[in-house]
Amino acid sequence: DRSIKIAPSILAADFANFGAECAAVEAQGADWVHVDVMDGHFVPNITFGPAMCAAIRPHIKGVMDVHLMISPVDPYIEDFAKAGADVITAHVEAGPHIHRTLQAIRASGAKAGVALNPGTPAEAVAHLLDLTDLICVMTVNPGFGGQKFIDMSDKIRTLRAMIGDRPVHIEIDGGVDPKTAPIVAQAGADVLVAGSAVFKGGSVSDPAPYGANIREI
Ligand code: DX5
Ligand code: ZN
Repeated sequence: DRSIKIAPSILAADFANFGAECAAVEAQGADWVHVDVMDGHFVPNITFGPAMCAAIRPHIKGVMDVHLMISPVDPYIEDFAKAGADVITAHVEAGPHIHRTLQAIRASGAKAGVALNPGTPAEAVAHLLDLTDLICVMTVNPGFGGQKFIDMSDKIRTLRAMIGDRPVHIEIDGGVDPKTAPIVAQAGADVLVAGSAVFKGGSVSDPAPYGANIREI
């Protein structure tokens, strides 16, 4: 489906070559580039921060989609906005004031995303729908790439109905591959994050597999 956007997660890319990996995956047909920021506190893994986002920004022509798996979020919003994030997504579980966080993200000039862990119900965003541009439904417990897909189709359907005609994306993150992508697309998702399924088999010197992998999803 051409209206479905594919957002490769650079968590599965070569960490020594992020700039070239971003450019390669875009040249191979990626719609957005998904950037997973982890703090070793909200999730049990550490990746990178705003300085890395700023460094890769010139290598991305399209949307830089920054997924913050950090707590607290608010002290760092301005840094990620200045780093050039187009979308900044915060977790509803990351603190007591997600409403304020989404307001602050929009005030920074970025689009505001809100993410839901698998154990968090759709209703957690019921009062945030007019403050958000994207709802990220996690289909793994966040922290690592390459995990097994957890079916959240009922949550996606509930969210689609709640959103109504608002211009809000539903993004799916975790375990997306050619088998699971149709399930989430059918349920109403329109942005699919994929890490291992996009980057497998390729490299910056041989990026063609990225394109083949994207077309398969
Ligand atoms: C998980 C991250 C995901 C992850 C997806 O914590 O938020 O973006 O990189 O990786 P795959 O597609 O390999 O499940
Ligand atoms: Zn992510």
